[in-house]
Amino acid sequence: MIPWKFLDSAQVPGSSAEMCLYERGGEFSIRVNGCELMNSRVHGSEDALAEFACARIGSLPSPRILIGGLGMGFTIAAALHRLDGESRVVVAELVPKVVEWNRKFLGELTGHPLQDPRVTVREADVALILRTEHQAYDAILLDVDNGPKGFTRNGNNWLYTEAGAGTAFAALRPAGVLAVWSAGPDLAFARRLRRVGFQVEEISARARGPAGGNRHTIWIAARS
Ligand SMILES: C[S@@+](CC[C@H](N)C(=O)[O-])C[C@H]1O[C@@H](n2cnc3c(N)ncnc32)[C@H](O)[C@@H]1O
Repeated sequence: MIPWKFLDSAQVPGSSAEMCLYERGGEFSIRVNGCELMNSRVHGSEDALAEFACARIGSLPSPRILIGGLGMGFTIAAALHRLDGESRVVVAELVPKVVEWNRKFLGELTGHPLQDPRVTVREADVALILRTEHQAYDAILLDVDNGPKGFTRNGNNWLYTEAGAGTAFAALRPAGVLAVWSAGPDLAFARRLRRVGFQVEEISARARGPAGGNRHTIWIAARS
């Protein structure tokens, strides 16, 4: 087996956690404190996150989308594939080095989505954007941890509280959707989404898409 090669590391802002990028034979792995956050061979449900959300807003003119975070760029590439030329996509990424890694190493995996003129990259905490923008987005796609619990850093826990869900609700335009990726179901989180006013659908998506793999969970929470 080809051994993993260490490429680079970064400190996660607002935490002491270390994020590292590894590569072996064209496969990439991003790890936080040694635990895998994302692997380039498995992205079926990251693609599905964008597919489900874009399907909900497909008929809107000039939709505006917020994606947090960038990771390896699969979700953003899948969204761009489904959105027309008038769409605008803001991608919020907490770790500036992840943006650099996408430009330097990872862009080829996904067709260089950051070079697309519809895309604006913000090196920022997605929570900050949610708190400061009101009725600004038709869809908000969140895949910043491994589920509704801080994994990249504890500070992300706020996103999954009732206050966080309510703030995402307020950042959406009427009829907008919040889509959240998770490695598995979480009844309490779905309840919190409903409590702030969302209509919630829980969808199962396979890790390797049509090839199968683990079942991940995607919540599509519609602002009515
Ligand atoms: C699991 S990866 C995202 C994978 C992505 N969906 C893809 O298709 O490659 C999580 C990303 O979210 C970023 N992140 C974590 N917390 C964040 C936050 N609060 N705001 C913005 N980005 C964040 C991480 O640095 C990492 O790049």
